[in-house]
Amino acid sequence: MKNILVTGGTGYIGSHTVVELLNLNYNVIIIDNLSNSKIVVLDRIEKITGKRPKFYKGDIRSKDDLRKIFNENKIDCVINFAGLKAVGESVKKPLEYYENNIYGSIVLLEEMKKNNVYNFIFSSSATVYGDPIDVPVDENSKIGGTTNPYGTTKLFIERILNDLVIAEPKFNICILRYFNPIGAHPSGLIGEDPNGIPNNLAPYITQVMVGKREKLNIFGNDYDTKDGTCIRDYIHVCDLAYGHVCAINKLEKSQGIFIYNLGTGKGSSVFDVLHAFEKAYGKPIAYAIAPRRAGDVKANYTDVTKAYNELGFKAKYDILDMARDAWNWQKNNPNGYED
Ligand code: NAD
Ligand code: UFG
Repeated sequence: MKNILVTGGTGYIGSHTVVELLNLNYNVIIIDNLSNSKIVVLDRIEKITGKRPKFYKGDIRSKDDLRKIFNENKIDCVINFAGLKAVGESVKKPLEYYENNIYGSIVLLEEMKKNNVYNFIFSSSATVYGDPIDVPVDENSKIGGTTNPYGTTKLFIERILNDLVIAEPKFNICILRYFNPIGAHPSGLIGEDPNGIPNNLAPYITQVMVGKREKLNIFGNDYDTKDGTCIRDYIHVCDLAYGHVCAINKLEKSQGIFIYNLGTGKGSSVFDVLHAFEKAYGKPIAYAIAPRRAGDVKANYTDVTKAYNELGFKAKYDILDMARDAWNWQKNNPNGYED
């Protein structure tokens, strides 16, 4: 499998995965509607890799856009990053989320089938585990109980994919459930560039570091955890990107539907992450304790055994590396890709 169609390839995880693929001599074609990313990402990818991926500005909900790509390119495998991902926004705009994420994935799968392309890798999320009873979770842990429409789109798409392989056994699918991707490419040329006030922890911290926000609000320090703050499994986005190469290799050897959690296996609290960023910064970072955030779960991190045994996947980086690289990106690009 050499020719990879990456939907959402100018986004945060997509761009890092494209870099990984180009460095390994895959031929990459991107489709992105640029609803949450910037075209300049392509220049940055070229700067890092010396190669420019083929780019189509288009929408996965558009059969015409997809037909053009399948007509003009031989595609062996599709990685579907395209989707809306803001948890809070999804509560306010559920129809937009269901339409973009679920309908978009269905159109993409239909057009793949028409063009005899059956290898599919899907960006799912740890959010499908809802509020886990036991941590670490593994791939057999109960899924469901999602607390927002965004999470439910992931759950429903997973279900659709399971139904699809039963009806159409030619489909060969890898579902990757990402834990919390943070960090940036060590070059500092690509990274996470949220619109407006960041919803997520790491970009919020780096915006405090760069002087764009006054202080971090820690959402609750009264959870039943080692320091009272929530526990997550933060994974360096470059490790996550490599996980997609492992998934391609898996689909080359096997036929069916496969599910893997991608994390480090290590749970870190909000204070652990804050302290890692303080190390990268060399000074304290202002914070205040704020009320709990609705929908947050106390702890979620993964057992990494299955991904290691079946994909050979093992994360290389720890939270200090993630903090260093996220800070390097933000320092060099205080306004993200706007500069
Ligand atoms: P992102 O918003 O940076 O990237 C998504 C890209 O898809 C953007 O460039 C956007 O413009 C594009 N896009 C959205 N809808 C589209 C459509 N209909 N047609 C074409 N392009 C479209 O997000 P990300 O953080 O890189 O996440 C990538 C995927 O991974 C998403 O599906 C997300 O739900 C999933 N995921 C992300 C996280 C996370 O914490 N970042 C965690 C788990 C899962
Ligand atoms: N947090 C703060 N202050 C902030 C932002 C976050 O204290 O300003 C805390 C949260 O309460 C939580 C932790 O930092 O305890 C991590 O929060 P994030 O928003 O960074 O990440 P979540 O685990 O809540 O959710 C993220 C994505 C989801 C995805 C999930 C699993 O937002 O879309 O990871 O992949 F589903």
